[in-house]
Amino acid sequence: MLNHKGTENLETKRLTLRRFREDDAIDMFNNWSSHSEVTKYLSWTPHNNIETSKKLVDFWVNGYKNEKQYNWAIELKEYKGVIGNITLLEIDDDTENCEVGYCIGEAFWNRGIMTEALLKVIDFGFNEIGFKRIAARFDVNNIASEKVMKKCNLTYEGTLRKIARNNEGNLVDCSYYSILKEEYYNSEDK
Ligand SMILES: CC(C)(COP(=O)(O)OP(=O)(O)OC[C@H]1O[C@@H](n2cnc3c(N)ncnc32)[C@H](O)[C@@H]1OP(=O)(O)O)[C@@H](O)C(=O)NCCC(=O)NCCS
Repeated sequence: MLNHKGTENLETKRLTLRRFREDDAIDMFNNWSSHSEVTKYLSWTPHNNIETSKKLVDFWVNGYKNEKQYNWAIELKEYKGVIGNITLLEIDDDTENCEVGYCIGEAFWNRGIMTEALLKVIDFGFNEIGFKRIAARFDVNNIASEKVMKKCNLTYEGTLRKIARNNEGNLVDCSYYSILKEEYYNSEDK
């Protein structure tokens, strides 16, 4: 049985992963939610105004009452602001499965930040909550996201054709990766 704990504070060398607060909407809008580069392979379009980001952050903040809501604001210690988020979705208590989703602003890309965040969330997911499998998927063109999954020791499972709609309304192929609890415990990252 899963041992739900909600979005607890997590720490890595360079990052603090914590619950969103209402005032994070400003960083969210400025750093990632209004950027079309960030949403290029996602299902949602960039936010046109800060009100949209505020509403979403308020929704997330309210959602923390639910102990099954896992959505961390990613704070870069050296920058002292929120640069993105990482979340566990599709939580299934029966099969003890979940999926992870993530994004950060392009000013912070290619510094190993999401790999560092995902490794910590995987550690929390297996050690603290007790998931049996953590999965992730990406639009086949989103090579950077695939690299993050590989660097975190997820295994390629396959590609499903026309399985998701992108933010231009087109159906896109997505590749699926996952890591199993036993693989995690047999790896050197545990
Ligand atoms: C995908 C994303 C989270 C990666 O975050 P990040 O902090 O830059 O990731 P990392 O630095 O840990 O790793 C990125 C890797 O991709 C590589 N990369 C980036 N763009 C690339 C490209 N166009 N082609 C090939 N490799 C690329 C980087 O070189 C790096 O690999 P390396 O460490 O071997 O050099 C970030 O780009 C992002 O937020 N994108 C927008 C939102 C998004 O697409 N989310 C994922 C949805 S599935």
